[in-house]
Amino acid sequence: MRVLGIETSCDETGIAIYDGQRGLLAHVLHSQVALHAEYGGVVPELASRDHVRKVLPLLRQVMTLADTRAADIQGVAYTAGPGLVGALLVGAAIGRSLAWAWGVPAVAIHHMEGHLLAPLLEEDPPDFPFVALLVSGGHTQLVRVDGVGRYHILGESLDDAAGEAFDKTAKLLGLGYPGGPALARLAASGNPQRFHFPRPMTNRPGLDFSFSGLKTQVVKSVKQHQAVPAHPCAHGTWASSATAPGVALPPASMQSCPADDQARADIAYAFQEAVVDTLAIKCQRALRETGLQRLVVSGGVSANTVLRERLRDMTHEMGAQVYYPRLEFCTDNGAMIAYAGYQRLRAGQAEPLAFSAVPRWSMNDLTPP
Ligand code: KG4
Ligand code: ZN
Repeated sequence: MRVLGIETSCDETGIAIYDGQRGLLAHVLHSQVALHAEYGGVVPELASRDHVRKVLPLLRQVMTLADTRAADIQGVAYTAGPGLVGALLVGAAIGRSLAWAWGVPAVAIHHMEGHLLAPLLEEDPPDFPFVALLVSGGHTQLVRVDGVGRYHILGESLDDAAGEAFDKTAKLLGLGYPGGPALARLAASGNPQRFHFPRPMTNRPGLDFSFSGLKTQVVKSVKQHQAVPAHPCAHGTWASSATAPGVALPPASMQSCPADDQARADIAYAFQEAVVDTLAIKCQRALRETGLQRLVVSGGVSANTVLRERLRDMTHEMGAQVYYPRLEFCTDNGAMIAYAGYQRLRAGQAEPLAFSAVPRWSMNDLTPP
């Protein structure tokens, strides 16, 4: 079975074709990073319009790359949620319409199920059951996975997602959007001895997370190391954010960044360590509590090198194994949606002749195909 997958839940337009016999045939991606950069974050309406512009040219491109004609496609999968409602509606409308026009079934995919199954696209995929750590811009979750659609959320963030914490902290440090990779680069030149931030919620039982307090620690450290009292950041991110439609400005007290470049790097280092350590501690706990030996890590933050290494060491010490998607499939992409769609379509799942976007959607509500 050959499946077309469409991902438009946020700021990447991703399209891919997955074939049950031959694997992933092709995937293409257009990132809107440049479009949103001047606003310091994703502007939902601009995102939807750009998906509208890009989705058909990308579709033609992926069909050519996969040497596939419309008649070869036997099912269409599209991300139906969670995400930005306007952005989701673009992919859902196009996906459902193509399936109708081509006379093939369509299936609505949960974005996080796409992330969760992404490591199964790799050469040596994990067997079920496994524990999955999903760390993206919108979610931080530990999930017990017993099969496709058999998910049990073990713990999740009670406030900010890990990626969101990276992005907000990067802003506080005067870095551009998207903040995660920029902060990771800055942290590489940080002094490990200078700051230490707490590992939130690790000293009590349970597998939930909380990352919003770390931001307060960062604000405090930034203030202590400012050459001049709060001023619009010289790095320019606040100035441009102020003009962005729909992008909330942080409180005035946060609209500054440390003048001292070394202090910024040192804070970035301490922040990254706190997040990575916290995630590693909770993953270890999840493996112990479930008695499982396989950990799958996926979502944008799983591209973080320090996190990947830390989890590799931690699982190695436990005699367990960790699995990641290749770097380009850590962040949003069409391949993971095509793959999740293939898994559900081949089991006979299909949507009626209607579509909807589901901006808020818990993985606990998913059922096996
Ligand atoms: O999965 P994703 O592409 O989109 C969502 O579903 O949210 O994840 C994007 C998130 C952003 O918050 C971004 O800053 C973060 O992943 N991210 C990183 C890195 N690369 C992306 N965070 C830390 N280190 C990275 N190298
Ligand atoms: Zn994502």
